[in-house]
Amino acid sequence: MEEKTFSRPAASATVLVGTQFGDEGKGKLVDYLSDKYDIVVRYQGGANAGHTICFDGKTVVLHLIPSGIFNKDCICVIGNGVVIDPNALMEEIQKVEELGYDVKGRLFISHNAHLIMPYHKRLDSLSESSLSGEQKIGTTGRGIGPSYEDKFARHGIRVVDLLSPKVLEEKLRDNIAAKNKLICKVYEKEEIDVDAIIGEYEAFDKEIDPYVTNTQLYLNRQIKAGKTVLLEGAQGCLLDVDHGTYPFVTSSNPTSGGACTGSGVAPNHIGKIIGVCKAYMTRVGNGDFPTELDDEIGEALGRIGCEFGATTGRKRRCGWLDLVALRYSLVISGVTELALTKLDVLDTFEEIKVCTSYMLDGKEIHDFPTEHQTLSRVQPVYKSLKGWMASNSKAKSFDEMHPNAQAYVTFLEEAVGVPVTFISVGPGRDETVFK
Ligand code: GDP
Ligand code: IMO
Ligand code: MG
Repeated sequence: MEEKTFSRPAASATVLVGTQFGDEGKGKLVDYLSDKYDIVVRYQGGANAGHTICFDGKTVVLHLIPSGIFNKDCICVIGNGVVIDPNALMEEIQKVEELGYDVKGRLFISHNAHLIMPYHKRLDSLSESSLSGEQKIGTTGRGIGPSYEDKFARHGIRVVDLLSPKVLEEKLRDNIAAKNKLICKVYEKEEIDVDAIIGEYEAFDKEIDPYVTNTQLYLNRQIKAGKTVLLEGAQGCLLDVDHGTYPFVTSSNPTSGGACTGSGVAPNHIGKIIGVCKAYMTRVGNGDFPTELDDEIGEALGRIGCEFGATTGRKRRCGWLDLVALRYSLVISGVTELALTKLDVLDTFEEIKVCTSYMLDGKEIHDFPTEHQTLSRVQPVYKSLKGWMASNSKAKSFDEMHPNAQAYVTFLEEAVGVPVTFISVGPGRDETVFK
């Protein structure tokens, strides 16, 4: 029987989004798919993301560089919607080069992307420590929220400013003067030394210059020339600042709409929207999580799935797959096909539960409430499915998978009304079944 593969997409652009609370395995999927696309673009978030790629016996975590970088024919773009910490970026470029991959000439950075400065990280941590236990977001501490605050308040500093030392100095002096008022008067902490920051960041102009371009125009010209683009989301739909479990969210739009604003690729170029979904669920940081398991099953999911944050190393909270939340994410992002990941983590479970609806005040509900005051009160209703108690890691096709694993996938497809196209049964590139 001929092995099925993912064919080159007809429309120019595909968006790949996380459908849960992040860490669904987006990095693995983007790396796996990158040989089908000419360009991979990150469109939002920053170094809060940790996208893990396993290939040739190596495990690499990328925070800013798109996950197509380990495919030598693929061009990578950091779009205007990303917030860039220049130190983190330079470190990452060096890491990729040390692995034997060229970055210069293959990575382009939007001149319009905003920067993360040391005072953003400081404010991120001061803001978190000023909140009481229940209110803490549990951010990654990477300065994401404060940098987006400056962007939307229209006094942010952008990549293009790094290339003009005079402009950079002026903007840094203005920004730091304002931040120091906040840091000293509100948080009652020590001032930030403006001259040290100017000295440090002025030096980035030569380092970053070779990568900087108008990526919005570049992408549109490439699309016009017939090239294909994969837009790589960070985080997940339920962490979206507009559509997620606000305020326990990140400060950008991981949903597919964010792919257009964060890259300059217009919606009419987008054909497929791939939703990445773990076969169970995890969340790192605070916020509601109706199917969270605070028992030995949750502990087993975390242990078998190695659920520790790829950016902060924090233990991820674990629970059963939540179809109420998933259906919501699929609608908001217009997902056309699903990539189901980490199915192998369920290999040893005799019984697998899936949440199909919630109970709220004695009534069954099927719609996902995003507001904390409601979501914190729902009780999951579960359907129990038979485990397969076997490994599918050698399966080359869906038909070769254990019948109970097939039944699980088919149940999921029918319950959400979106086909599953990829099934990931291990972290490696080759541990992927195309259905
Ligand atoms: P991302 O942020 O969505 O890219 O996901 P992370 O990299 O933060 O977390 C996913 C973790 O699961 C990483 O350690 C991956 O190497 C791993 N992973 C991805 N797919 C699979 C899979 O199908 N099975 C197993 N066991 N691990 C996987
Ligand atoms: P990837 O791309 C999982 C979570 C944080 C916190 C909230 C806000 O690897 O899936 P932030 O630092 O963004 O202000 O934190 O969002 N968070 C993530 N959780 N995966 C991520 O990225 C995340 N990026 C941010 O834990 O709850
Ligand atoms: Mg991650």
